[in-house]
Amino acid sequence: MKFSTIALVVPFFTLAVSVDVSLRAVRKAFFAADIPADLTIKFDPSVLLEVTFPEPGPPITLTAGVQLPRNATVGPPSFSLVGKAAGNGPFVVAMVDPDAPTPQTPTEAQIRHFLGSDFHANALGQLKNNTPAISDFLQPTPPAGSDAHRYVFLVFKQPADFDRQTLVNSSTSIELFNISTFAAATRLGSPFAGTFMRVAPDPS
Ligand SMILES: *[C@@H]1O[C@H](CO)[C@@H](O)[C@H](O)[C@H]1NC(C)=O
Ligand SMILES: *[C@@H]1O[C@H](CO)[C@@H](O)[C@H](O)[C@H]1NC(C)=O
Ligand SMILES: *[C@@H]1O[C@H](CO)[C@@H](O)[C@H](O)[C@H]1NC(C)=O
Repeated sequence: MKFSTIALVVPFFTLAVSVDVSLRAVRKAFFAADIPADLTIKFDPSVLLEVTFPEPGPPITLTAGVQLPRNATVGPPSFSLVGKAAGNGPFVVAMVDPDAPTPQTPTEAQIRHFLGSDFHANALGQLKNNTPAISDFLQPTPPAGSDAHRYVFLVFKQPADFDRQTLVNSSTSIELFNISTFAAATRLGSPFAGTFMRVAPDPS
C-alpha cells in the first residue's frame, strides 16, 4: 500500500517541479540574467511558454534559466503556450543567442537559432505551423573555452503582413541578428511569452 502510494506521487511531483508555473518567476529569471537589457526588449509575459526538447528518454521542458547539457539540446524543440490570454495565433517564435562567441565579448551576437512564423495554438496550447521556418533550428554549439551561453525563446503576435517581410530569409546570415530591430521593423512589438536555457561547451 505504502509502496504504491510512493510510486504514484513521485512521478507527479517530478513533473510538477520541472516546468515554469509562474509568470513572475519567468520575468524575474529574465531580469536576473540581464536578458531584457541585452536584447533591448520589453519583457512582460502574459502567458507561459513551454519549450520541450525530445530526448532518448523522457522529453525535457525548460524551466527559465535552466542549464542543459549540450547533448540534450539536439532538438528540434516543440513549443506550447499555457493559458489562453494570447489567443490562438498566428504567432512568430524566435530563438537567439546573445552570447556568441562568448558572453564577455559577444561580437557575433545575436545568433538567430530559430525563426518561424504562422504558429497557431491548438486546444492543448501546442504551437503548430505549416510553413517552413525562416531560420531552421540550430543546436547550441558554444565554442570551447566559452562560459555557458543564454539561449532565449520569445513568442510574438504576428502582424498580418509579416510573411511579406524581406529582412531575413533562409539564406540570410544568422550572425549579428538583432531581435529588437527586427521586431520593430516588422511590427512584432514586444514578446508576450518567453523562456531561456543555458548551454555550456562540450567538455574537451
Ligand atoms: C549526454 O552526455 C552525458 C555524458 O557523456 C551522458 O551521461 C548522457 O546520457 C548524454 N545524454 C544524452 C541525451 O545523450
Ligand atoms: C534573401 O534575401 C536577400 C536580401 O536580403 C536576397 O538577395 C535573396 O534573394 C533572398 N533569398 C531568397 C531565397 O529569398
Ligand atoms: C539592437 O538594436 C537596438 C536598437 O533597436 C540597439 O539599441 C542595440 O544595441 C542593438 N543590439 C545589438 C546587440 O547590437
